[in-house]
Order: sequence, then structure tokens, then C-alpha cells
Amino acid sequence: MATTFRTAVVRSPEGPDAIEMIEVPLAEPGPGQVRLAIAGAGVNPVDLAVAAGVFHRLGMVHQPGHTGLGWDFAGTVEAVGPGVGLPVGSRVAGLVDGFDRDFGTYAERLVIAVDDIAVVPGNLDLIAAATVPVNGLAAAQLVDLLGDGAGRRLLVTGAAGAVGAYVIPLAQDRGWRVTGLARAGDEEFVRGLGADFTTTAEPGWDAVADGAVLQERGVELVRDGGDFVGMQPGSVPVGVRGVRVRVVVARPDGARLATLLAAAADGRLPTRVHAVLPLDRAADAHRAFAGGGVRGRYVLRP
Ligand SMILES: NC(=O)c1ccc[n+]([C@@H]2O[C@H](COP(=O)([O-])OP(=O)(O)OC[C@H]3O[C@@H](n4cnc5c(N)ncnc54)[C@H](OP(=O)(O)O)[C@@H]3O)[C@@H](O)[C@H]2O)c1
Repeated sequence: MATTFRTAVVRSPEGPDAIEMIEVPLAEPGPGQVRLAIAGAGVNPVDLAVAAGVFHRLGMVHQPGHTGLGWDFAGTVEAVGPGVGLPVGSRVAGLVDGFDRDFGTYAERLVIAVDDIAVVPGNLDLIAAATVPVNGLAAAQLVDLLGDGAGRRLLVTGAAGAVGAYVIPLAQDRGWRVTGLARAGDEEFVRGLGADFTTTAEPGWDAVADGAVLQERGVELVRDGGDFVGMQPGSVPVGVRGVRVRVVVARPDGARLATLLAAAADGRLPTRVHAVLPLDRAADAHRAFAGGGVRGRYVLRP
């Protein structure tokens, strides 16, 4: 059995060129933890920002050596710690949160708390499952902040993006009348989720969920006293006219993730894979994603 595994990290965070593969020691899972072999890790906007040093400059990362990349994954349990009932071989997905860490899901192996993962339904493949955790949980936790819609009107900006596409059905489940703001070419996809569609929006919405990171321009679209939920914990727009401004920060929640994976397996939540690349091409995936216009996730396969 190997005593090390490979992972993609940044030492000096200067964008994709700074991403390098290193070997790190394999650890045994402690109480309540599992170790898994990663089958796929999604490439998300936050990873591009970490690799570019955005959160280092905000004072949110203090790693003396390297900083880990990757927030979500799907894989197979290969060892369990004391007190864990999940069998070895279980197919699971999960989320690692927090910016200030020397490990991530761009890796061959991961040790994680069993409470932070969920079993992947048998009819959902692991690559598709890898696209769900961070964006599904962010969307679900965003909709929790909004609460019940009771017929009120919600504008989802970036509605064709990973988070926006999950907010639409989850908000509809809570009684919101949802309109998606996206690029013209995304109309069929957004309408297919059951939302109304627009490429431009006038002010007056009861709430705005800001998947396109319009920030202050998004707050301007909310009616007086309405709700805005942003996506950038490091950059919170100012509330005006009584608009309540909050920001979602995706947190691991294995039980909630199980319901999202079930919805993905049923097709109620979309799983879109743009391309699968080997882990050691993480930098190429970052460069391609940075150009914008990508629908669906790059997934890195160790
Ligand atoms: N706080 C958290 O917990 C959390 C969790 C997940 C994600 N996030 C953040 O949430 C944001 C969205 O993430 P994501 O994964 O959904 O990104 P994504 O998949 O890239 O989606 C963003 C979408 O917004 C569209 N867009 C951007 N500007 C637009 C505009 N002016 N009009 C219409 N559409 C526009 C993009 O289209 P183009 O590609 O054509 O530009 C894209 O379809 C990112 O900033 C991410 O870091 C935060």
C-alpha cells in the first residue's frame, strides 16, 4: 500500500501557472472520519480565486507552505475510523469548506468527517455526483436564507450557472415565483428548469439571488425592503433602501447533501459535466474555465 498520494496545490498563488502536483503522506482516518479515493473533483470559480490569491490578499489564507485546491468531490470509501458505520467501498460525495487549508479535493485521497459526506444513489455516476456538493449546498442554504416565497418574485442572476440552476428549482419548491437572468443562449435551459427568463432586469424584485455576482447592481434590482443574497463572503455589497443584504457561505451538511444527490439522480436538479480532465491538467481546466461561457463543470479525475 502506498504511503503517499498526489494532490494539486499552489505555493505562491499567482493563477493557473502556479498550480503544481505534490506528494503528501497518506493519513489514517480518525474517530468519525473516513478516507476515500477521489473519483472526481469539480473545478469551481472559488478554486480559480484561491489559485489567484484572492483570499490570500483578503487575509483569509495563512498557509506557510502550500494551499490546497478543491471544495467538492465524489469518490469511494477505502478506510473508516472508529465509530463509523459506513462500509468500505461506499460511493460518496461531499464538501470540504474553509479557505485556509493545506489540503483539498484536487487529490487522489481525502480524509473527511463522515457527517460531511453523503452516499451517492446507485443511478448517479460519480463524475456527475462530483458536480453537486458545493453548488447544491450553496443553493439550498441560500434558499434557506430567503425562506418561503409565498408567491413572491425572485430574480436569480447567473441562472444558467451551477448555483443559479440549483436555486431555481429549490426556490420554486419553497413557493417563489422565479425568473432567471442569463445570457440569450441560455433561454432554453433556464425555461427548462421551469423559470421565466430574461436577459435584462428592471428593479422591483422581492428578492435577488446573485449567482452572476452583480453585487451593487444586483442590490439595485431589489424593491425597497426586499432581500438580496450574494455569493461572495469576502465582498458584501452595501444595503440601500432597507434592502436586507446577506451572503451565503456553503457549509458541509451530509444529510442535506443526500437529498440534493437524490434530486440529481431523479433529474430534478441538473448535473452538467463540461469535460473530464486528468488531475494533473488542473491548470488547463482553470485556464479554460476562466474564459467564461462554460456551461457545466470541468471535473478532475485522479
Ligand atoms: N459563497 C458560497 O458558498 C459560494 C458557493 C458556490 C459558488 N459561489 C460563487 O457564486 C458565483 C457563481 O458560481 P457558479 O458556480 O454558479 O458560477 P458559473 O457556473 O460560472 O455561473 C455564473 C453564471 O453567471 C453568468 N453571468 C455572469 N455575468 C452575467 C450577466 N451580467 N448576465 C447574465 N449572466 C451572467 C455566467 O455566464 P458567462 O459564463 O457567459 O459569463 C454564468 O452562466 C461564483 O462567484 C462562485 O464563486 C459561492
